[in-house]
Amino acid sequence: MRQAGRYLPEYQALRKEAVTFLDLCYNAKLCAEATLQPIRRFTFDAAIIFSDILVVPDALGQEVRFIENEGPRLAPLMSERDIANLAPSRMAEHLRPVYDALRLVRTQLDRSTALIGFCGAPFTLASYMVGGGGPNNLSNARLYAKAHPERFATLLDLLAQVGADHLIAQVEAGADLVQVFDSWAGILDPDAFDRYGRAPMVTLVKRFRAACPKVPLIAFPKGHVASLERYVETVAPDALSVDWTVALGAIKSRFPGLVVQGNLDPLELIVGGESLERAVRKLLSEGGQSRFIVNLGHGVRPQTPIENVHKLVEIVRQNQTNMPKNLH
Ligand code: CP3
Repeated sequence: MRQAGRYLPEYQALRKEAVTFLDLCYNAKLCAEATLQPIRRFTFDAAIIFSDILVVPDALGQEVRFIENEGPRLAPLMSERDIANLAPSRMAEHLRPVYDALRLVRTQLDRSTALIGFCGAPFTLASYMVGGGGPNNLSNARLYAKAHPERFATLLDLLAQVGADHLIAQVEAGADLVQVFDSWAGILDPDAFDRYGRAPMVTLVKRFRAACPKVPLIAFPKGHVASLERYVETVAPDALSVDWTVALGAIKSRFPGLVVQGNLDPLELIVGGESLERAVRKLLSEGGQSRFIVNLGHGVRPQTPIENVHKLVEIVRQNQTNMPKNLH
């Protein structure tokens, strides 16, 4: 999940060095630093490259802005022509700073700390690209998918290809594993999830695996549990990330061979105290000692007290007494 961000004073200081959030995302040195900040503080087992899923629509030529304290705004794609005008040929050059940032991080990161590359899943990216990112983003996106199913499918297919290519380039630049964020999968009904959430992920993962057969891939269809069997069977991720709306123990028994990642509610990190301790102990007991990656169910919120993140790490490490960091 997002582990860099405004809850860290050093991130707030770094953020001031770039004018816009996208400027920050295209400055390899600053991105490398933002990636390393949480690792220095908390000694997590893995670093996730500092970037954003929306650099992909930006690289394709769509207008993307981030409004401070509100979030992303995109000039929504409407017509067939808008979609045809997207330019995958610009991607590699435009995203070069992301790959430079990965190379820089790899030189500064201990070998025992894994480096995670990521991209947005086709559905989540498409929902921003046609929904525009504003307050009606998700209803706009669902409406667009129903009103123009073929156009929407064309867009998803394009995003599956470029998403895979972006992940492959990140691996070439030093990522040890990758994660695909489908943050809005949970808003889809089961049929739409099958068509718009699952199917393009099959395409993306196939293309990624053809180039990087040995690199682990984590899929995060956030908030969608109803039809996960077919998703896991056909997408075949190495690990499944889940949020707090699912019972971790139940997911582990539903998919006995699969690595599961999750699922602490980030709000527990704001509340802290006994509530946090209880939640982390429950997490550890349900996740067990194998095939489990301790994580949050979503990114760290800006108002999170730093000492609560330390507390989380401390409890988790106590629970893994005999394991050196690189064997977790
Ligand atoms: O820890 C890291 O270095 C990871 C970096 C990371 C960011 N975005 C940086 C960021 C990751 C993994 C993302 C993914 C991302 N971006 C997702 C998928 C995961 C999720 O959170 O659901 C999505 C949907 C986005 C799109 C996005 N970016 C939104 C909706 C927002 C605004 C909301 C907010 O929290 O401000 C962003 C901005 C953003 N991306 C910030 C960061 C650190 C906050 C901007 C800032 O504080 O300067």
